[in-house]
Amino acid sequence: MKNKILLLSLAAALSAVGGEKVITPNDFTGSDSERIAKAIAEGVRTKAFRMTIPAENRVRGENVWILDRTIEIPSDFSLLIKEARLVAAPGFEGPLVSNASAKGGKPDKNIELLGLGSRKGALVGAKAILAKNVNGFIFSNFEVCDAKAGAIEIADGVLTGRLSNVRFTTPVPKGIVVADGCRQIEVHEIVAPCDGVAAVPAAAGWASNLWATVSDGAADLPIPALMPAPRKLKKGRGYFGAPSAYVTRDWISFSRDAKLPAEGYRLSVRPTGVTVVAADANGELHAMTTLRQLAGEKMPYCNCDFYDGGDWGRPLRVPCCEIEDWPAYRWRGMLIDEGRHFFGKETVKHVLDQMAYHKYNVLHWHLTEDQGWRIALDRFPKLVEYGSVRPHSPVHFDYAGENNGEKYGPFYYTKDEIREIVAYAAARGITVVPEVEFPGHIRAALAGYPEYSCVGPTLPRVPRTTWGIEDDVLCVGNDEALRFVEQILDEVVPLFPGEFFHIGGDECPTKRWKECPKCIARAKELGLVGPEKLQGWVTKRFTEYLAKKGKRVLGWDEILECDIPTASGVMSWRGTAGGIKASRLGHDVVMCPQSHCYFNRMQGIADDPFTARNKSQCVSLEKVYRFDPVAGIPAEYRAHVLGSQACFWSEVIWNRYDLDWKMWPRACALAEVLWTSPEKRDFAEFKARMAAYRKTLIGRGVNCAPLD
Ligand code: ACM
Ligand code: ZN
Repeated sequence: MKNKILLLSLAAALSAVGGEKVITPNDFTGSDSERIAKAIAEGVRTKAFRMTIPAENRVRGENVWILDRTIEIPSDFSLLIKEARLVAAPGFEGPLVSNASAKGGKPDKNIELLGLGSRKGALVGAKAILAKNVNGFIFSNFEVCDAKAGAIEIADGVLTGRLSNVRFTTPVPKGIVVADGCRQIEVHEIVAPCDGVAAVPAAAGWASNLWATVSDGAADLPIPALMPAPRKLKKGRGYFGAPSAYVTRDWISFSRDAKLPAEGYRLSVRPTGVTVVAADANGELHAMTTLRQLAGEKMPYCNCDFYDGGDWGRPLRVPCCEIEDWPAYRWRGMLIDEGRHFFGKETVKHVLDQMAYHKYNVLHWHLTEDQGWRIALDRFPKLVEYGSVRPHSPVHFDYAGENNGEKYGPFYYTKDEIREIVAYAAARGITVVPEVEFPGHIRAALAGYPEYSCVGPTLPRVPRTTWGIEDDVLCVGNDEALRFVEQILDEVVPLFPGEFFHIGGDECPTKRWKECPKCIARAKELGLVGPEKLQGWVTKRFTEYLAKKGKRVLGWDEILECDIPTASGVMSWRGTAGGIKASRLGHDVVMCPQSHCYFNRMQGIADDPFTARNKSQCVSLEKVYRFDPVAGIPAEYRAHVLGSQACFWSEVIWNRYDLDWKMWPRACALAEVLWTSPEKRDFAEFKARMAAYRKTLIGRGVNCAPLD
């Protein structure tokens, strides 16, 4: 009976997992060392040639395996350590792992010892590894604790080998020793306090990325300029050295604390390691962003799920500090207008990278305008066929109608490209809120479908080619025109998973409605005083339509005149009065008055090559920094202020370089308004920090304007 159970469990242990036989000491009896030895013997017998020491020791119920003898790795054998800690029993010196029993004669073929990259996977004891008389070895991804000199010894008779991604947790003189007789030994990405790495003899091979953290206090790295400034920052002494950005996440211990404010985090950087305690997933992202800023390098984002141009192989040094941080507002946004000028996917990704780096979390993507329709939809191909191309555009800064004679477009996004952008943003903690404008600012759509305008098919089939406000709007007296918008929403809504959907609602002249028999009849039928009241009715209708699709509507402050449900959010752009009123009525509000948040306006710097039309409308760095999104709002309504956003209306923004120039450094000022507590904000301190930080931004490929 007993044998039968053993056989059954052996069969389970040897069963194919991912096409590979897995042997584990959890299926054997005896002391930890005995169980490991039995599992290896079984692995060799059945030609599995690989044993995993799992994180859980089922006898102990923890991830510790106590060793009273060396784990002998046979020839051609792999040992995988999954977050397990192999700990020397009292009185046992080690080595914990070795192939040294393979004696004389021909050397062993190859051996591998692979940790799975977690800091919790460790070899704990005076001597960790001894390799001897072997053709080749790979030892990588583990931590060595409580070690003494020669903790890792590559002895004579080793032909080739690679030792990489190893971290010593305590100062160890000559932690790695390589014998003179070795050949072709690669040692890289090692973190070792003090002079932990003994020189690899020149004859033995080569070493790269050897990295030594200096013991506490020996090197005191300054804290670089952080943007936005964290709420609480305490500088420590020394620094943490990560062997490479590639394994950054492996060297960090993560946990959650629900008592922290939303998106909050605590980040502790000490010579011995980095810990992140976060309120939620976004808090974790913000902690990683702060870590990237502290590292002062182009460090890949977060856990290397994606690559953003950082240098993975390079070691990092992070100055020691303790940070506690959380945002002041939950809406930290930017509006990018791609209707007037189209920037394209790569520029949008560049903007998203920079937004995430400064803890912005909402991209308000303005995709439909009088001058351009940028979303390709299945049901209405003429939206982009006619709406995404202008025969010409105004000359720069011209609002009077002089044209440049150049065709512009077709420029638009496919649904797949939109999904790609939405996913790219989400991976960076950014929600994309689309704006599909109606009943005004819809002229480009009417270029494809003029039958839905008040004047019908005689409407010229081109988008608006000048800037300014357009008289031709949606014919809201026409049921088919309303159905047209609903069917557009049917296709656009599923592309954007966020809570809000922006319907515009600003600047809708009523001139055409007052002349249109259908619109006049509609107003009469509804008992309205005149067609000018139709915007309220149609906005309510589409708000309800979107609510049925699970969306909360957002609109410009004109929609307040429409008696819309309080679940709808209001963006206050004509000053802050609309936002103040909306908050009193119970609406959530995004405060983006043009006076402080329209970054298309000039910034008032000397010799500005990318200036704006109206010289009296200056949004300076200082003005942005001093913006208070809740000014004028009684305390009891302040919770309705979600936050703010920088708006980039693109009549006079042509490309990425202009966009960057208008965005930075002002977006750093707004990032701080939206993140840091008001009592911590000091413009003089910010400006000095910004001056240093500007160099970092330029180094990251951002066309940042000067401060003055
Ligand atoms: C706007 O600037 N018309 C919202
Ligand atoms: Zn009409």
